[in-house]
Amino acid sequence: MTPRTMKRYVVSHRRGIDGLTLETDAPVPGLRSSTDIRINIKYLSLNARDLQIVTNDYPAPHSVPQDVVPVSDGCGIVEAVGSDVTLFKVGDKVAPVFPQGHHFEEDLALRNLKKGLGGAIDGVAAEYFVCDEEEAILIPSNFTLEQGATLAVGFTTAWSSLYSHHPRLQAGQTVLCLGTGGVSLCAAQIALLAGARVILTSSSQVKLDRASVLLQPILAAGAPSDTIQTIDYSKIDAWDSEARRLNGGNGVDFVIEIAGRGTIARSVRATKMGGLVAVSGYLSDYGSIPKHIIEEDLAKTILYSAANVRGVFVCNREDFKTCVSALEIGGVKPIIDKTFKFDELKEAYQYMADGKHFGKICVEV
Ligand SMILES: NC(=O)c1ccc[n+]([C@@H]2O[C@H](COP(=O)([O-])OP(=O)(O)OC[C@H]3O[C@@H](n4cnc5c(N)ncnc54)[C@H](OP(=O)(O)O)[C@@H]3O)[C@@H](O)[C@H]2O)c1
Repeated sequence: MTPRTMKRYVVSHRRGIDGLTLETDAPVPGLRSSTDIRINIKYLSLNARDLQIVTNDYPAPHSVPQDVVPVSDGCGIVEAVGSDVTLFKVGDKVAPVFPQGHHFEEDLALRNLKKGLGGAIDGVAAEYFVCDEEEAILIPSNFTLEQGATLAVGFTTAWSSLYSHHPRLQAGQTVLCLGTGGVSLCAAQIALLAGARVILTSSSQVKLDRASVLLQPILAAGAPSDTIQTIDYSKIDAWDSEARRLNGGNGVDFVIEIAGRGTIARSVRATKMGGLVAVSGYLSDYGSIPKHIIEEDLAKTILYSAANVRGVFVCNREDFKTCVSALEIGGVKPIIDKTFKFDELKEAYQYMADGKHFGKICVEV
């Protein structure tokens, strides 16, 4: 039987991780319409955005309501269904769509940015979560609930970067992934699954070595040793030239650009004519950016590279389902660094803030 009250977190202020407040007797949300489902959330995973929301660094064009429930990525078991629900049954393992209402590419409008979980509207850091049946998808049948909690932002952004727009990734191409965070490692996995080469960068050789080992199972039998190559950007400043060198002297086909001002010019220079720099993040904004980078004439860099530079915003529900099928059939499993307990949520955020993480941080509810 469903309890009347539940545990959930709210963001009681946006001045840092201390703003995360655990409530132990919040009302369990009821179904609001006949097409709603109620999910008993079992796992969460964190994204950079979750941290940016509590530190008030998230620049989305919408406000974050007081006492919003944080976290966008979760997974759980359908525990109640409205009388008109046809897509799910009680017991199904599902993950909510982020943002709610982004079903097809043309839905990507401000009104849907205003439905981003754990920011504009309540997220999933709660034992129960209610949404319309159209706002969740089945996780891969071969995923655990913990693995299912990593899908909604990292994998969708990686998928969208490589497949939702032109050009689209093809076997034999090369994808340069910046850093070893959630989006980049998801992109590396999707690229290897497609038969592409991957060049990973990181500030840590230890992380690069670990990533190279964890990505091996996706490689086709007999794939050459240079299918996964790495660059320690803390040691090699000109990592754009190094990426070209590793790619046989040619620009790469795709860059997973997550660091923004501090890296975008090098990303463009690393890319071949007509290749795609898929820009999803701006993590370098949180550190000091050298003057020569700020002063660089980015327009000329883009012009003379003739690369495509495109903003990416997660992906729509239909592409999300395709991504999930690809992971399911390809047997790709998320790279999970560490799993915290629900009452350790602040520690999980701090782990991310300290930059210690690698791939995904999960939280068991
Ligand atoms: N547009 C969208 O739809 C969308 C969706 C998801 C995420 N994002 C954005 O994408 C970015 C990444 O998100 P995430 O969740 O993957 O973050 P994350 O898991 O926290 O990734 C952090 C990693 O990024 C790497 N990094 C940081 N600064 C870097 C730099 N200057 N150069 C190269 N690598 C750098 C570091 O890797 P190493 O430690 O290995 O150096 C760091 O560990 C964030 O800005 C986030 O807001 C946007």
